[in-house]
Amino acid sequence: MRTEHTEHTECTEQSAVTVLGLGPMGRALATAFVEAGLRTTVWNRTPGKDTELVERGAVSAPSAEAAVAASELTVVCVVNYDAADAVLRRDEVADALKGRTVVNLTADTPDRARNTARWAAEHGVRYLDGAIMTPTPTIGTPHAVFIHSGPEDLYREHQPVLDALGGTHTHLGDDPGRAAAYDIALLDIFWTSMAGYAHALAVAKAEGISPRELAPFAQGIGAILPPIFEQTAEELERGDFSGDGNPITSAVSSMSHIVHTSEAHGIDAGVMRAAEGLARRAVGRGHGADGFTRIAQLLSDR
Ligand SMILES: NC(=O)c1ccc[n+]([C@@H]2O[C@H](COP(=O)([O-])OP(=O)(O)OC[C@H]3O[C@@H](n4cnc5c(N)ncnc54)[C@H](OP(=O)(O)O)[C@@H]3O)[C@@H](O)[C@H]2O)c1
Repeated sequence: MRTEHTEHTECTEQSAVTVLGLGPMGRALATAFVEAGLRTTVWNRTPGKDTELVERGAVSAPSAEAAVAASELTVVCVVNYDAADAVLRRDEVADALKGRTVVNLTADTPDRARNTARWAAEHGVRYLDGAIMTPTPTIGTPHAVFIHSGPEDLYREHQPVLDALGGTHTHLGDDPGRAAAYDIALLDIFWTSMAGYAHALAVAKAEGISPRELAPFAQGIGAILPPIFEQTAEELERGDFSGDGNPITSAVSSMSHIVHTSEAHGIDAGVMRAAEGLARRAVGRGHGADGFTRIAQLLSDR
């Protein structure tokens, strides 16, 4: 694995890139390419999304096949792989892509990424997969985070153009599904955390605590997580489930207080009940004195 913290790379005026998909993220990507001085061709299924981009200097293509024919490199960023496949797998587009490179920054599952990579190989299309781990305002800034997978030599070839998107780019390996696998794991953390925060805001409100009153304390809870993530990873790799003064029985007790308070206010405690259920299962299997890392191990032991 290699990580590069990249500044905007010098791209020659000849550097050309096509962006398929002009939702909020596709527009942010295309804007970053235009601002980096790349000749940028854009296309979107529904017309009219490229007006601002064209004003900034992008070229609007009349069709996806015309768009991909304009550049050696096409970046795809649509809602999911059903959409990406609907665009890429049309005969006219596949023909125009032959010998060219696609970097698919659409989010979906690792299997879908591998499937599209197989299709690309069968059709003579050079293919890299990837995922974007940060929101649109970060694109083109040092705060953007991109992960990539697929053939490393192909990634290195197109890295100077990808660097124009700013931020950090990491190539995670040759398996085209690997970036999507990281994406899934990282979004698992994100969405369960956001569900927890939404629930916490509701319970706090029911107890007369406003969102703004809670927010600074919520940030404090968020700040204790990074060292815990690191420690849990190390413990899991060593097989150390010792609990270290914070046993699962104690976690179950804390979680049940949250469930009771929530349900006393008539607030759906489903997310917390799910977490409590995992912890209770660990206790039921005789691991009550272990630490929370045991739950990760039990989930992995299918
Ligand atoms: N927004 C973010 O902050 C963010 C952050 C990280 C990753 N991402 C990922 O980036 C990707 C794009 O996200 P987004 O924010 O731009 O918005 P989005 O709502 O996920 O995607 C909108 C884009 O998908 C296109 N699309 C949908 N169905 C299609 C179909 N059947 N055929 C062709 N095009 C289709 C839309 O075209 P029309 O305009 O024609 O509907 C539009 O270009 C997603 O995979 C998302 O998970 C987004």
